[in-house]
Amino acid sequence: MTRILKVETTPIQGQKPGTSGLRKKVKTFKEPHYLENFVQSIFNAVGGMEGATLILGGDGRYYNREAIQIILRMAAANGVDRVVVGQGGLLSTPAASCLIRKRKAKGGIILSASHNPGGPEEDFGIKYNSDNGGPAPETITNAIYAESQNIREYRVTDTADIELSEIAEFTIGAMTVEIVDPVKDYRKLMKTLFSFKKIKKLFKNGFRLRFDAMHAITGPYAQDILERKLGAPKGTVINATPLEDFGDHHPDPNPVHARDLFDVMFGPDAPDMGAASDGDGDRNIILGRGIYVAPSDSLAVLAANAHLAPGYENGLAGVARSMPTSCAVDRVAAEVGMPCFETPTGWKFFGNLLDAGKTTLCGEESAGTGSDHVREKDGLWAVLLWLNILAERQESIREIMKAHWRTYGRNFYSRHDYEAVDSTAAGNLMATLEAKLSSLPGQCFEGETIKSADNFAYNDPIDGSSSTAQGIRILFESDARVVFRLSGTGTEGATLRVYLERYVSDPEEFDTETQVALERIITAADQIAGIRSHTGRSEPDVIS
Ligand code: G1P
Ligand code: ZN
Repeated sequence: MTRILKVETTPIQGQKPGTSGLRKKVKTFKEPHYLENFVQSIFNAVGGMEGATLILGGDGRYYNREAIQIILRMAAANGVDRVVVGQGGLLSTPAASCLIRKRKAKGGIILSASHNPGGPEEDFGIKYNSDNGGPAPETITNAIYAESQNIREYRVTDTADIELSEIAEFTIGAMTVEIVDPVKDYRKLMKTLFSFKKIKKLFKNGFRLRFDAMHAITGPYAQDILERKLGAPKGTVINATPLEDFGDHHPDPNPVHARDLFDVMFGPDAPDMGAASDGDGDRNIILGRGIYVAPSDSLAVLAANAHLAPGYENGLAGVARSMPTSCAVDRVAAEVGMPCFETPTGWKFFGNLLDAGKTTLCGEESAGTGSDHVREKDGLWAVLLWLNILAERQESIREIMKAHWRTYGRNFYSRHDYEAVDSTAAGNLMATLEAKLSSLPGQCFEGETIKSADNFAYNDPIDGSSSTAQGIRILFESDARVVFRLSGTGTEGATLRVYLERYVSDPEEFDTETQVALERIITAADQIAGIRSHTGRSEPDVIS
């Protein structure tokens, strides 16, 4: 007999989900009632879970399995009909999105802190995705927060743990728990989008790829699809086993944390392509031999070439990028004559556009690209689309990039992150900047005259909702741009992100080193915002 316990609780401060759910230290999640309060708040905020199907899985980080057992007991006590769980408790974020859509689930709970490190002393996270497969919109995340601030009771059964390691079905009271192969449905979806035959031939002809799964969730997906289905040589996927602490690394595919991959790709025996994904499998980076493809450029190249893959052969309805993402894709959209939407940071803002069929491809500068096949960004999908394009074009990544810049010009782009900055200092920097926005146009810094300055506000063209204060953007007469915003996902102090961009149309300049090409803008950014004086930092922690 399954007993349902009603546990008395009290609200916990600060359970406000950010752009991608609630992220905190594992220790915080382990505090009494912490996880339970949040999960019950989700269930309450979406109007209860009676009779619902729920998708559940995570990136395998420390505390994943324990959290899954707690959520299963709470789901049963809240009247959920069926929970579909990835074997071993694993599901990449895009695969969870795929399952939510395929199973017509009410929603999904994904356990991940994305690219943040894992382990007992590190980060854990939880996010709720809605029935379209995408991150819950702000109306729901606000409701979750409101519930978490009023919660008095949560429901849980007193049942034992479920065995997650085998593909099987169990019951907890009236609820079915279905353990599924985490890769299968995702692989099937990829097969409908890409020519596996042509990619297979590419590998057969000796194309060499190095895919760094960073000991995170994409390992099993990449090994299955790239090595077993597409015939890439064994060993193409490295660091393929998901580990609870990601091998003591940050599963963040950037030039700092994916250093080894960069070294190989810029070394003497570099393969044709390098790629990496993050903790939960939604991000990607692409490198060619001796060249790094900036994510904003990758979005633009994919937009210009997607029609070469079967799933996009009829062209794209439109494209969308987050505001800080470079304007490279805008130029492709203008050329093709398709709409290009500019949204606030965070994948959830693409959901409405995708659902309405207004856009097919979306991307963010933070190594996220995706399409209407799911409602999340998708790391492996981007790698497969690149492979399909390479198979069709029979050119190197460098050649493709050069040809792209010759056609559209090059948007030099870089993001400078100042991490764990004192929150008050970071707040002051933004407030001071905000206060002088109207006086900036016409002023000149480092020879660059400011054309306009504002704090980005977005009106959703589909549901009419508005989001304000999404980042301060400063546009120069030359089309160069600098954007300042505070991260919504950092877990320590504040993270100041400075996004720098400069458009160049002269091919003579295309080979300039990015930081050199951006030198004037970098100096101007500091003069405008007083980064050094406010933060006390002389240089960024991460340059990507
Ligand atoms: C960061 C990225 C943003 C992405 C989010 C979730 O958010 O900048 O593009 O959508 O992670 O992966 P931020 O920390 O900047 O708020
Ligand atoms: Zn991620």
